[in-house]
Amino acid sequence: MATNITFHPGSVDASERSELLKQKGITIWLTGLSASGKSTIACALEQTLLHQGRFAYRLDGDNVRFGLNKDLGFDEDSRVENIRRIGEVAKLFSDASCFTITAFISPYRLDRKTVRDLHEKANLGFVEVFVDAPLNIVEQRDPKGLYKKARAGEIKEFTGISAPYEPPENPEIHIKTGECDVTQAVKAITEYLVSHSYL
Ligand SMILES: Nc1ncnc2c1ncn2[C@@H]1O[C@H](COP(=O)(O)OP(=O)(O)OP(=O)(O)O)[C@@H](O)[C@H]1O
Ligand SMILES: [Mg+2]
Repeated sequence: MATNITFHPGSVDASERSELLKQKGITIWLTGLSASGKSTIACALEQTLLHQGRFAYRLDGDNVRFGLNKDLGFDEDSRVENIRRIGEVAKLFSDASCFTITAFISPYRLDRKTVRDLHEKANLGFVEVFVDAPLNIVEQRDPKGLYKKARAGEIKEFTGISAPYEPPENPEIHIKTGECDVTQAVKAITEYLVSHSYL
């Protein structure tokens, strides 16, 4: 743990930055089982926002583990640390006025609340999106063949099979990907951004 460190205040605060850049940052936090559709929806949303000339960026579990978090595994402590780091990075992006779209399973309610609190304390927007699909559907999709491996015992501590997933109790947006397509999912999120004056 570092000591003798002092926080250096910024040249402009977040609200002044938003005004100058004409965009208020927000973290759009997608959570759900593997294969529920987080990356698919996050990509489509990022594309939609970029095509509208917005500053948007996707932080994705599938990519962050290759770099920033390559030292972390999938045991409970590592999952907590994984989300803690992502939460801090998302906060930095949001502070920089970005529409920050995160796509992580993020199975623990407490971790998601910690990230939410981190944003709210800094007066930054945070919206939790439950990308919801039942186990039988995600197992059927199984685009990476992970459920098959988990059922065969080749992957341990796999969310939904041998590790818990705690669904959000009050997500701002609830998307059932077994019942709607990607376009409708993106629309639900952009409508939220419009109704809350981010777009
Ligand atoms: N309505 C939908 N929304 C999103 N994805 C859908 C939908 N219907 C079917 N799919 C399919 O489901 C799969 C979802 O995979 P995706 O990689 O997006 O999941 P993920 O939640 O990011 O999983 P992981 O946590 O393993 O990264 C894709 O193959 C996608 O085409
Ligand atoms: Mg993904």
